[in-house]
Amino acid sequence: MTAPPKSFHVKSFGCQMNVYDGERMGELMAAQGLVPVGADAAELVILNTCHIRERATEKVYSDIGRLRKAAGKQGRRPMIAVAGCVAQAEGEEIVRRAKVDVVVGPQSYHNLPGLVARAAAGGAAVDTDMPLASKFGALPARRKVGPSAFLTVQEGCDKFCTYCVVPYTRGAEVSRPWRQVMDEARSLVDAGAREITLLGQNVNAWTGEDEAGRVRGLDGLIRALDRLPGLARIRYTTSHPNDMTQGLIDAHRDVEKLMPFLHLPVQAGSDRVLRAMNRSHDRSSYLRLLDRVRAVRPDIALSGDFIVGFPGETEAEFAETLSLVNTVGYAQAFSFKYSPRPGTPAAAMVDQVAPEAMDERLQLLQAALNRDQHAFNLGTVGQVCDVLVERRGKLPGQMLGKSPWLQSVHLLTSAGVGDLVEVALTAAGPNSLTGGPPNSLGALAAE
Ligand code: 5AD
Ligand code: SF4
Repeated sequence: MTAPPKSFHVKSFGCQMNVYDGERMGELMAAQGLVPVGADAAELVILNTCHIRERATEKVYSDIGRLRKAAGKQGRRPMIAVAGCVAQAEGEEIVRRAKVDVVVGPQSYHNLPGLVARAAAGGAAVDTDMPLASKFGALPARRKVGPSAFLTVQEGCDKFCTYCVVPYTRGAEVSRPWRQVMDEARSLVDAGAREITLLGQNVNAWTGEDEAGRVRGLDGLIRALDRLPGLARIRYTTSHPNDMTQGLIDAHRDVEKLMPFLHLPVQAGSDRVLRAMNRSHDRSSYLRLLDRVRAVRPDIALSGDFIVGFPGETEAEFAETLSLVNTVGYAQAFSFKYSPRPGTPAAAMVDQVAPEAMDERLQLLQAALNRDQHAFNLGTVGQVCDVLVERRGKLPGQMLGKSPWLQSVHLLTSAGVGDLVEVALTAAGPNSLTGGPPNSLGALAAE
């Protein structure tokens, strides 16, 4: 028996969906009367873990060790809950190895208060069920959020790319119902959101029935959100090329609030590698898709995910990834070294690529992606656009916000957090831009 915790801290790792889940867990514990505090004072620490790459499991165990040691020096023994995808993958094993109090998977964290109470009463509490009834109905309403908020509308994945652990940790593709999404969007706007990013492992596979009982896709949801008063911007991530419908492409033409940004992972440029990855699209179908998107929204900023060193990838095949990057000209992108995930088909493939080759390929790829990102940023200098102010900058009077193309923009302004301001983009670096009042462009042209 220990006293039930009165304060908590959530530490989230990994993707935006984990960030969202972490926020919801925080709201859930706050609704129980627990106070949010720093990790070094919390009586309950929730580690919301990620399993997508690298030695995720080992990292969690060393985090737990470090946490215990730091708390021990202060004479404390906080309750530790492991949530997220490592919890789902490891389950009871985490209790056996690290003696944590609670283990809870991504589909059952609505049970966290009960699990914490059980752990306080003695023994460990583990819940890695994937119940049919969704957790969302059991979570408290959204209360206070920043100007840019996440909203998970879809979870799980049925694609089974051969390298990926997500179909096992997050389960099958499930869409949240229309009503639930619209209600949460409304409460996010009431709580201060000006921009909503719809989230899902395969967000563009979202499907549901609208109020009239018609089956709609993500584009239907976006068109309905477009009419939500107070909401200024809509984004969505992450999409799969095969679920990119014409309706969604058309939404990029018609819906003014839908920002000109598309994160569309391709992973590799070689058709043989894409087949071995079970990606179900090839290089040319991907490029044709981008052409169709650019046809309706020529200024769209494209983003992607890449894996280098997939088992069996040759130098020539990697060169095809580089040439695809050169063809597309991404505005930004994420790139990773292949990391074998236990239980996935690719982990059992015999021709794993040597670490040195992976390092070299990643460096080459990132140099190309950084070059293109800088070029994209420079290409927007001279434009006047809206910037959503998200937080204060480091300098006095400086604020930091996002352009429609998801670039970070520094500006000197009297505007506050949550304001949309008209800004002229006056200078660009590789990672951010500088903006000024719309009339500052004249000065730029005179330079
Ligand atoms: N190794 C390396 N990168 C991976 N990703 C997913 N699984 C792996 C893996 N085993 C990358 C993909 C995916 C992104 C979220 O993480 O690029 O799009
Ligand atoms: Fe993983 Fe592929 Fe599903 Fe993306 S589409 S979550 S990479 S299995």
